Amino acid sequence: MSSGTSLFAALGLLGLLRCVRSCTNLIVSKGASADGSTLFSYTADSGSLYGTLGHLPAGQHKPDEKRQIWDWDSGKYLGEIDEVPYTYNVIGNLNEHGLAIGETTFGGNETLGGGEGVMDYGNLIWVTLQRSKTAREAILTFDKLVSEYGYVSDGESFTIADPNEVWVLEMIGKGKFEKGAIWVAVRIPDGHVSGHANQARIQKFPLNDSSVCVYSDDVISFAEKIGLWDSSRKKEDFSFADTYDPITFAGARLSDARVWSFLSRVAADRSFEKTYESYVLGHNVSAAARMPLSVEAGAKISALDLMSYMRNHYEGTVLDSRSDVGAGPSGSPFRARPLEWHLGADAYVHERSVGTPQAGWNFIAQLRSWLPPAIGGLLWFGVDDASFSVHAPFHGGTTRVPHSYADGNGDALTFSRDSAFWAFNTVANFLYPRWFAAAGVVQQAGEAEEHFARALELEELVAVAKYRKDPAAALEYLTAADGARADKIVQEEWALFGQLMVTFRDGFHISSLGPQAPDHGGRQGGIVPKVEEVGYSNRWYERIAQDTGDHYKVPKTSGQVQALEQTKLRTLSRGIAARDAKSPAGLHLELVV
Ligand SMILES: *[C@@H]1O[C@H](CO)[C@@H](O)[C@H](O)[C@H]1NC(C)=O
Ligand SMILES: *[C@@H]1O[C@H](CO)[C@@H](O)[C@H](O)[C@H]1NC(C)=O
Ligand SMILES: *[C@@H]1O[C@H](CO)[C@@H](O)[C@H](O)[C@H]1NC(C)=O
Repeated sequence: MSSGTSLFAALGLLGLLRCVRSCTNLIVSKGASADGSTLFSYTADSGSLYGTLGHLPAGQHKPDEKRQIWDWDSGKYLGEIDEVPYTYNVIGNLNEHGLAIGETTFGGNETLGGGEGVMDYGNLIWVTLQRSKTAREAILTFDKLVSEYGYVSDGESFTIADPNEVWVLEMIGKGKFEKGAIWVAVRIPDGHVSGHANQARIQKFPLNDSSVCVYSDDVISFAEKIGLWDSSRKKEDFSFADTYDPITFAGARLSDARVWSFLSRVAADRSFEKTYESYVLGHNVSAAARMPLSVEAGAKISALDLMSYMRNHYEGTVLDSRSDVGAGPSGSPFRARPLEWHLGADAYVHERSVGTPQAGWNFIAQLRSWLPPAIGGLLWFGVDDASFSVHAPFHGGTTRVPHSYADGNGDALTFSRDSAFWAFNTVANFLYPRWFAAAGVVQQAGEAEEHFARALELEELVAVAKYRKDPAAALEYLTAADGARADKIVQEEWALFGQLMVTFRDGFHISSLGPQAPDHGGRQGGIVPKVEEVGYSNRWYERIAQDTGDHYKVPKTSGQVQALEQTKLRTLSRGIAARDAKSPAGLHLELVV
């Protein structure tokens, strides 16, 4: 018992130390979006993360007021910083001015983590959202905060977006060398798409054009100081990513590959997917083989499109993992963790896709310049795996979070029947071993989101009209509408779970025999359903036979013995409808190729 306890304690400690988010951001500049908004998506992926929508109300502060900081990952208290006289309303990762910030952790050079100070990357985001109106202002706030209070996290790529511009800012600490951080921020050109996923992406950057690139003064000189850059080389050749986070197999295959899954679908260059195939497979991992930070979009992309790119699992590409033995009989793209596993002297990996079970929450920020900022900023918020999220729209000026998405309603150790996180996890965990039912659920989620987008058109017309006379009343109207819709999403998710349970209970496909179905006169269990066996694909049966030889084989018989055998099998399958060649095993065969 005692040794078991200490093992748990040791594992718990390791868990805390390793608790770093592994996330994805996909980015669409204003000129590449269908409606002229800037768009980006974020999924916060960490097994320890519980998905709620945070809210920091706007506030006036006294001159001596302090703001306390707890590390977002570890929960450790880091210290306090000076408050500012006025802080803005922040809902999730969006504020009332239509500024939104996301991130992915790249880690980077091992000597540059663990810096001294108070600012971790999570609070850097939320404090900046409380204090800045535009992307450019946010970049200055980032710099001020890490210079004054130090930066304690590992290397990070941030997406910083307002209704007109979207920037990627990459930052890494200075470890034990100095307080603070070094960083580069690059504006994504209008008409371009970009993304980052746990691998630094900014290679060379323009040194003399602050309209498209700004950086900390010491981004090159610090590298020189710690021996990562030779001062005799031309400054123009300096690469942030190749200096502070050089590419590796895992950086290409498990990280950049997620960005590739998006860019290869949307790039104007239709050969993009093929061009970088050998790179994302990890066959050619070199700085020269890497994808550019951004590429021109081939067609306009909507917020709803971006939601579908977040449901990606490399379907139809060289990284599609739905048909090998690890996919199981239902053809799932997911594998039990760890990501890297070992056999003898060799190491292997599983694919890491954008849609992923361990996500805590995810969103799509849609930032529209033609509406009042408090209405124009829209956060389409989802919990858990983006594969199955139904995204609830929340406006940046709204002032309350509905109960089902609020902190305090359940947590990672407390199941709650009315929390969004547990509702969506219940459905997703039901679907993981029944991937054949996933497509239907994804389609339903997309239809619900389309319906919300249409409903918003009218709601926003009403809100804008109200806003002209009484901004507070307009925001109260949106707060009520957004909250009611979000609570309803959770109720509908439980209804969906009920429907899935009824349909796929116990390895069957269960449906109605139609209006004439016998019902035992309303007694003895009532209705008699149609129960079909799901079975496996032929390909899967072949695998079982290959694996077990004659172990399950039925001896060949004929005549009376065979008839007796069939009668016995019918008895063993009581209550099950006669096998239909097309359904539902047919459904199975389509998916498991
Ligand atoms: C990390 O930086 C140190 C200098 O602080 C350097 O010696 C080391 O080679 C770097 N590691 C990598 C993987 O580049
Ligand atoms: C920046 O420097 C490059 C050469 O390094 C030059 O070609 C370019 O014209 C300069 N741009 C500006 C805005 O000064
Ligand atoms: C790797 O990619 C680079 C850049 O595209 C190319 O120059 C090089 O020949 C490639 N190497 C191999 C082994 O394919």
